[in-house]
Amino acid sequence: MRASNAPTPWVSFLQRQYDAAYYAMLRPAWAYSGLRVTRYYNDLLQTHGYTPQALAERADDKDHDFYRHLFQGIPLVPNTSVLDVGCGMGHLLEFLRECQARPATYLGLDLVQAFVNRCQQKYSAPYRFECANFITRRFAPDEQYDMIVSLGALVSRVLGYEAYVAACVEKMLRLSRRYVLFNIITEVDRSQGNYQQVDQVGGITYLPRPRLQQILERAARTYGAEFEIIEQRIYSDGTDAFVRMVKPSGK
Ligand SMILES: C[S@@+](CC[C@H](N)C(=O)[O-])C[C@H]1O[C@@H](n2cnc3c(N)ncnc32)[C@H](O)[C@@H]1O
Repeated sequence: MRASNAPTPWVSFLQRQYDAAYYAMLRPAWAYSGLRVTRYYNDLLQTHGYTPQALAERADDKDHDFYRHLFQGIPLVPNTSVLDVGCGMGHLLEFLRECQARPATYLGLDLVQAFVNRCQQKYSAPYRFECANFITRRFAPDEQYDMIVSLGALVSRVLGYEAYVAACVEKMLRLSRRYVLFNIITEVDRSQGNYQQVDQVGGITYLPRPRLQQILERAARTYGAEFEIIEQRIYSDGTDAFVRMVKPSGK
């Protein structure tokens, strides 16, 4: 989908200034929320050990179905550069290896030091890992990546969640040369028990599709990107949306 009604450069400039000021105001709340998200995953890790359940997955065997959905239609070639936002235990690298698409450079970022340590034990150079909150100013790489992937990181509830998703999407597009791929939950059925605490900071939450669409249209306009949202009902109590954004090459 191409974003329509491109604003004039002046309007677009003002929009960006406004967004930047608004996001700057919210950053302390996002830093605090990051601590709550960290606690959420640390608690899971204590309960389940280094298993997929420590990543809030339901099954105890890790399959790559979510990655398959996320990467559908994206050409996977070796020797690209990848930023993995919320890398968890580094399962994206396993998936890329399975697809014979080992990246030339890879940076995995996560809030949870124990996950980062685990990845560092398991993978060596050229793969790098860093413990940081993606949205904070402290994470400010001076390089761009061919592909930015974030599976499962943007579903964590933080204060000012909608603005947070918008700010993450904007930052991912800014740091990407070409692809931004991530997932969001767009609908939940609380009655089945899993999603009773969607309003709790640190826990798993959702963003209705119309709001997601608005956020993507706005960000896509700024970067001349195209995007698609593919919704899948993988579990009976929620809808997962896989978002693929593509920047024009050379921009
Ligand atoms: C559901 S797990 C998924 C892990 C991995 N991407 C996978 O698919 O196996 C989400 C991960 O994102 C991390 N995360 C959430 N918000 C983050 C943020 N703002 N910056 C860095 N990591 C974040 C969490 O600590 C957690 O390890």
